[in-house]
Amino acid sequence: MRINLPSSFIVENWDTRSSVRSRKNQYYLTQEVLTASDTKDWFPTSMLPFLQTPIIQCSSIQTQKALQASYLVHFLDYTTELEHKVVNRALEILIHDELEITLPESWKQAGLQLYTDEAYHALFSHQLSEQISKLFNIQRTKSIRLTKLADTISSTSEDNLPLLMFIVGFISETLIAKELLNISQQQVIRPVLSMFIDHLQDEARHAKYFSACFTYVWQKLQPDRQAYAASILPKLIKIFCLFDENWLLKNLKKSGFPDQTAKEVLFQIPKSNNNLNNMKSMLETLRNNGVFKAAQHRDFFDKEGIIVDEP
Ligand SMILES: [Fe+2]
Ligand SMILES: [Fe+2]
Repeated sequence: MRINLPSSFIVENWDTRSSVRSRKNQYYLTQEVLTASDTKDWFPTSMLPFLQTPIIQCSSIQTQKALQASYLVHFLDYTTELEHKVVNRALEILIHDELEITLPESWKQAGLQLYTDEAYHALFSHQLSEQISKLFNIQRTKSIRLTKLADTISSTSEDNLPLLMFIVGFISETLIAKELLNISQQQVIRPVLSMFIDHLQDEARHAKYFSACFTYVWQKLQPDRQAYAASILPKLIKIFCLFDENWLLKNLKKSGFPDQTAKEVLFQIPKSNNNLNNMKSMLETLRNNGVFKAAQHRDFFDKEGIIVDEP
């Protein structure tokens, strides 16, 4: 299957629309913001199903707010590291022909613009995370997703690494746009909301860019390289869907819950389809590129429990 791609790729009005060039928002926790935090959330509660469990629902409002704030810090720290080490690494691979595939010049320039965007996202995510972390005296935990990604990267051969890293970037960029969209539609504290909205403005364009790059790269891969890509895609997608149980157990302990109660909270968490919904447009990109045409490719997804029926 061939999808026609534009010979020129421009990130529309990057100079006037990208957050790093145009946003005036400041993401500071002023006294006014802190007063408003009594009635607003630090992180959308609908995206943290553990907050809906009976044990947490019976805890004090201060405990619930502290858990929200701690998760926000965890998410921002994850974002900061992801932008630098994953997304920008994937962009370096595209820009510097490390896949031995040369993008058209205008696509490379768009990639350089995205690289700049991501560095700015890392900066503002870190700045906000530091402020909240000090306010709540939060102990940071390394993200389970980043730990698993690091394990996967260290067990990948040098020959396969550029393709693996590009695919990690593609998955990350198509999922984060949906994740940020969900967050930006909720009632959260103002500077946090402004930051997420500014980030989302860029990510909606980034998702399009990475989807187009995936098509460009996929069409140029030999069948054996396509098979390798198809074999790692579902494993990597599953890493991006992980919920950080270790983070939750540590934070419940810090909030004063005994170990056994913390484990009960884990057990009570309602099953959610959020991750599956976030994946829809990415899976659509894969389907449009014919990734699921080969039975061997579909088997890789089946083995990881990701259903990809080919009509
Ligand atoms: Fe970003
Ligand atoms: Fe991005």
